[in-house]
Amino acid sequence: MKNKLALITGASSGLGAGFARELAMQGHDLFITARRLDRLESLKKEIEQNYTVRVHTFSADLIDPNGVNNILGELKKQNLEVDVLINNAGFGARVFLLDKQPDDWDNIIRVNVNSLVALTMGILPTMVKNQKGQILNVASTGAFQAVPWLTVYAATKSFILSFSEGLGAELKDQNINVQVTCLCPGPTRTEFHSLADAENIDFPDFAWMESDEVVKIGLNALEKNKRVCIPGTYNKLSIYSQRLIPRNLTTSIVGNMHKPNNK
Ligand SMILES: NC(=O)c1ccc[n+]([C@@H]2O[C@H](COP(=O)([O-])OP(=O)(O)OC[C@H]3O[C@@H](n4cnc5c(N)ncnc54)[C@H](OP(=O)(O)O)[C@@H]3O)[C@@H](O)[C@H]2O)c1
Repeated sequence: MKNKLALITGASSGLGAGFARELAMQGHDLFITARRLDRLESLKKEIEQNYTVRVHTFSADLIDPNGVNNILGELKKQNLEVDVLINNAGFGARVFLLDKQPDDWDNIIRVNVNSLVALTMGILPTMVKNQKGQILNVASTGAFQAVPWLTVYAATKSFILSFSEGLGAELKDQNINVQVTCLCPGPTRTEFHSLADAENIDFPDFAWMESDEVVKIGLNALEKNKRVCIPGTYNKLSIYSQRLIPRNLTTSIVGNMHKPNNK
């Protein structure tokens, strides 16, 4: 029987590479994409040595307005149908809004939001036609409230959470058998924090999770068709406890945690 095919964005490091390893272990063929092709190629080599699955690599920049179309074009060229879509690529910047240029924020919104919607729209029609498919969108615990100093990033993650919940409900209402899960990790050890200038945020040690653990919890939630998944006890408690306190107070607490040293 043919293996299922999983498409993973942002597979060159961190959670994305973890999703690739885990889904390959479960017997999925992979279509892995990111900008750094050398990383994708070495991951392909590692995975194909360990598992009897096929790995397709494809370099695409999701800041580029043609990035998603290039991915969809490659799928078409190779006659590949995606069974599992992991919208994982994303990045942020921890800095006062006016200390970046509009284009910098635009780039974050393009990768985190525009490309996620465009790729979902490109792949969903086949899933709907086949009456099967799974979509895992990676948001963040930052989706549940404003995160001052990571304001634009957190707003993109709120979009992903709302988009996933809305789309999941639309599909369910129409009895379309395509699952949508939104994974909302908290602090996870990947390259994310150094790239976002967010290394010295004052999270307690026990708040940090390993990326492999987050990946397993996320895929398990997708398998169980959970709409929203917050991995880890610290993350769950910090999100659920917000329901008991005023929003302004939450914003202020979160802002104090994320404030850069030079501000
Ligand atoms: N780590 C955390 O604490 C944490 C917490 C909550 C949510 N998240 C979310 O988890 C997801 C994965 O991040 P991570 O933690 O694994 O960080 P990471 O190690 O920095 O991985 C980010 C991935 O996104 C890709 N990417 C970035 N810009 C891109 C672009 N312009 N075009 C295509 N791909 C691009 C990167 O690949 P290239 O650079 O090779 O293009 C990389 O593979 C992100 O959506 C992030 O927001 C992370």
